[in-house]
Amino acid sequence: MSDGFTVAIDGPAAAGKGTVSKAVAAHFGFSHLDTGLLYRAVGAKVLAGMDAAQAAQMLVADDLENDSLRTPAVAQAASQVAVIPQVRAALLDFQRGFAARAGGAVLDGRDIGTVICPEAHVKLFVTASAEVRAQRRFSELSGRGITDSIEQVLADVKARDARDMERAHAPLRPADDATIIDTSRLSIEQAVAAAVAAVNAVRGTA
Ligand code: DC
Repeated sequence: MSDGFTVAIDGPAAAGKGTVSKAVAAHFGFSHLDTGLLYRAVGAKVLAGMDAAQAAQMLVADDLENDSLRTPAVAQAASQVAVIPQVRAALLDFQRGFAARAGGAVLDGRDIGTVICPEAHVKLFVTASAEVRAQRRFSELSGRGITDSIEQVLADVKARDARDMERAHAPLRPADDATIIDTSRLSIEQAVAAAVAAVNAVRGTA
């Protein structure tokens, strides 16, 4: 399937996947793709009035370089367009192409270990309780001046979890062979160390 070494990191919103993925990529010198950005870019175009499937087909790398993709409204729109099979299909080749890069790749998302890269060398499922994730997202949003209440952030996290886990196509779930990392009681350093150890365990025997 791939020329390089592929690490698949899945999990729900605000569990720490992004932080862990970036740190793993930096540690091993791998490229990193945050696949949530693809869905966010499509969601943003739909909010601007475009058809979802068309937006996914026309997506270009520049569309991912946009700070406005990190808002709660775009997150919900991303989760909504992500249920559409034509959107998922249009984004498949780009993700698989990225995974096949020489030199190693880390992809993080919801369906990387189950659908995009079922033969990934390492599969991690990074999770945490909804309350812990909402608290982290609340702190992050507050720091950026976004004033949603903690109750609103928790409701958004739960709504996105339900939609991501219950959709018919490529629902969020751990691959059977994924290592689960529950970050509820872990510091960032501990979560990163657990992920690096899981990669080293496989690379040591490869
Ligand atoms: O990881 P994120 O919060 O940026 O993802 C935003 C939404 O995109 C998420 O709620 C569901 C969707 N998504 C997906 O369906 N599959 C992926 N591989 C990544 C994200």
